[in-house]
This record gives sequence, structure tokens and C-alpha cells, in this order.
Amino acid sequence: MDKIQINGGKKLYGEVTISGAKNAALPLIASAILVNGKTSFSNVPDLMDIKSIKLLLEDLGATCKSSNGYLEVDGSNIHKIEAEYDLVRKMRASILVLGPLVARFGHAKVSMPGGCAIGARPVNMHLSGLEALGAEISMDHGYIEAKANRLVGNEIYFDTPTVTGTENLMMAASLAKGTSILRNAAREPEIVSLADALNKMGAQIHGAGTAIITIEGVKSLSSSSEITIIPDRIETGTFMVAAAATGGDVFIKNCEPDHLSSIINKLKATGAEIRTYQNAIRVTGKECIHSVDIKTVPYPGFPTDMQAQFMALMTIADGNSVIHESIFENRFIHANELLRLGADISISNGNLAMVRGVKKLQGAPVMASDLRASASLVIAGLVAEGTTAISRVYHMDRGYEAIEKKFSQLDADIIRIK
Ligand code: EPU
Repeated sequence: MDKIQINGGKKLYGEVTISGAKNAALPLIASAILVNGKTSFSNVPDLMDIKSIKLLLEDLGATCKSSNGYLEVDGSNIHKIEAEYDLVRKMRASILVLGPLVARFGHAKVSMPGGCAIGARPVNMHLSGLEALGAEISMDHGYIEAKANRLVGNEIYFDTPTVTGTENLMMAASLAKGTSILRNAAREPEIVSLADALNKMGAQIHGAGTAIITIEGVKSLSSSSEITIIPDRIETGTFMVAAAATGGDVFIKNCEPDHLSSIINKLKATGAEIRTYQNAIRVTGKECIHSVDIKTVPYPGFPTDMQAQFMALMTIADGNSVIHESIFENRFIHANELLRLGADISISNGNLAMVRGVKKLQGAPVMASDLRASASLVIAGLVAEGTTAISRVYHMDRGYEAIEKKFSQLDADIIRIK
């Protein structure tokens, strides 16, 4: 298994280009199931999770052609409605095929995604939403089965905003008969990008990006002009935090500052200097990092996917920081690894972390437990004195494209050991 080895203590300098967003690309690729024809995408990141969703679509019968960030999915030959365990267990986001399959074919069977390192992550709201649209849902030997002649529009209220739940139901409702209204919907930029793409294919979706999304169902969707994947706001935030943590000066290109206001505000409060441009952000770190408190909440609040990286920054801040994780119940596993590097963190009630800033971190072997945890360990390794070796980097490869190359271009001493 690959490892990432970092000799820390170097400030990051230079320019970095952000890739397409994993969490925007996954639902968009799943949406190609809705089309009896070809759907093409550009700015597709080269990631394990993207390979996983392509494999899943190919297993259903779709043809996928990809090269250099371009992907074409032909959904005209889909003949299978079952997403098998071996494909789904690799990536929970595979649940995103459930809505499109039942909407287009009237029948879907998707292996139930298990829990994952960061929490139980149930899919009950995806299922009750589909039921509200008239699907008959059953569980059979670890598989979710959904059946409906044609889905019928309805009102759906989410107890809490769910990103992939909103996406699944937006896709399903696009082909339902009549009007659907999703209330307390997730408002992430990835939702807006999916709604825009579905509208290009002929769907009638209004209000994406707000808590109320209205979908007038249509009979079918058709091939659209090429869909460009939006820049990855979490990758952007990760480089912003790394620049601030090392006291460097980094110009981040091909990003969308409007999607990052919570992160920009929190980083400014730590003392970092941040300038935004149309599609770029420059972060200049300062010698002294002020501590700030963080609570993760749905967009446009501070994202859970940036909590681990901010915790790494707070380990070397001047003072104490309280980090409240309110989205997932087990998303502090990286804290124990940060302790190995000399951080001072205590956890209470499972979702509150008190981080007491220390003067220095020291390099040590550590282990990544999930995607964003691995990013926090990279940031910590970049500021730590000496060598940090991060194992289980396959977690990182799921969601960060060529991360060690991008950091070495910023002068970091970082290599991948095969
Ligand atoms: N929830 C339920 N029932 C449901 C669905 C969600 O109780 O049916 C709960 C979850 O357990 C959680 C909360 O609702 O407490 C929000 O979860 P959400 O459904 O929004 O998460 P998700 O859609 O499974 C996406 C991202 C995650 C990101 C979360 C939160 C994708 C493919 N994944 O997951 O990304 O952390 O939203 O923003 O979009 C990552 O990229 O590292 C990652 C984990």
C-alpha cells in the first residue's frame, strides 16, 4: 500500500490549479442513467471514486469513454437495474444510482451502503422520499429494492438537509408525473450544479440552492451540451488551510471563491491574508495563527469536509479552539493521529474537540482513516518538524487528484512511496 512521506517545515509558495469537484461529478455521472443517449462531461477529476462510479455504470450496461478530464456516458444500453454489493461497498455515493434507475426503468436494486468510518450514515430519507413519490420499497438480503410504474410528484420534507438525498430525489422527481416540492433541501453548490445539468437535459427544476426545490416532472430527458464539473471547493479549502498553516503564499487557480465564504471568513479570523479574484484566491499566511472556534453545519455554513483540515491548523494556533462536529457522529478519528504528532486535543461527548495550540508539531508515522482525515494529516505533516509518513493513503486517492504533485509544485518536500 502506498504511503505519503513529508519532510515538514517548508512554507508553501507558488500556484496550484484546482480540479473538478468529486461531490459534484458523482451525482452528475449518475444522472446520465436518466438519459437514453449520450451525456458528456468535462473537468472530470481523476479519482478513485470517479473510477468506482464509472465501473458501476458500466456494470449496468452504460458505455463510458474517458480521456484527459473528458467523460462521455452512453446510457442507451443500460439493461441491468442492480447495483451490486462489490461495487457499492467501495463507495457509499453509489446510492446515487437508486433514484435515476427507478425513475427511468421503474425498478432498481441497490446494495444497502453500510456505515463508514465517519458515522452510520443512514439512507432513510432517500427511501422515504422515493416512497412519497410512489415507489414501493423493500429490503431483501442486504439490497434495497424500489419499484414503481411511474413515479408521481409529491411534497417531501427532509428532517435534516441531506446532500445525496436531495440529489437522488431531484433526479427521481425529474421523471415523475406532476410536481414535486423538496422542503428543507440541501443548498450546496453541488446541488445547484446538478439542477443546472438536469435542466440542460430538459428537466424543470427551480429553486436549487435554496431550501425549497420545485420539480415539474417531464416524460424523458435527452442528451445535452457538454456539462462542466464545477471546481472542488473542499480541495480549494484544503490548499487554503495548508498555505495558512505553513505561513506560505499560494495563488489558487480555477476555483470558485463564492462557494468558500465560510472558509474564507474563518481563515481571515485566524489572521491569514486572503484576496479573492474571479476564479482564484490568494492566501498569505502569517507567523501567528489566531485560534478560532468552528461548528460544522450544512452549506452555506462551515463544511464538515473541512473540519479535519481546520483542526490541523488549530493545533499550532495561539490559544484554544473548540471544534463542534454537528453533521457526523464519528468524525474526529484524525485527532488521535494528530496527537501522535504532538498536538494537544481532547474530545468530549464525541462531537466536541478542544484543541490547545502548541508551538510545534513533530513528524511521526500516522495512519489516514478517511478522505478528509488524510488531508488533515498532510497539512500537519507539512508544518511538523522532521518526517511524517502517512499510511492508508488510498483514502486520499478517493478524493484528491495528484495531491502530492500539487504540493511539491508548491515547494513542499513530499513524495509518494509505492
Ligand atoms: N442523514 C440521515 N438520513 C439520510 C441521509 C442523511 O440521517 O437518509 C444524515 C447523515 O447521517 C448526516 C446528515 O444527514 O448526519 C447529512 O448527511 P448527508 O446525507 O448530507 O451526507 P451525504 O450526502 O451522505 C455528502 C458528501 C459528503 C459530505 C456530506 C455532508 C457526497 C458524495 N458526499 O454526503 O462528502 O461530508 O454530504 O456535507 O456528496 C467527503 O467528500 O469526504 C464526504 C464525506
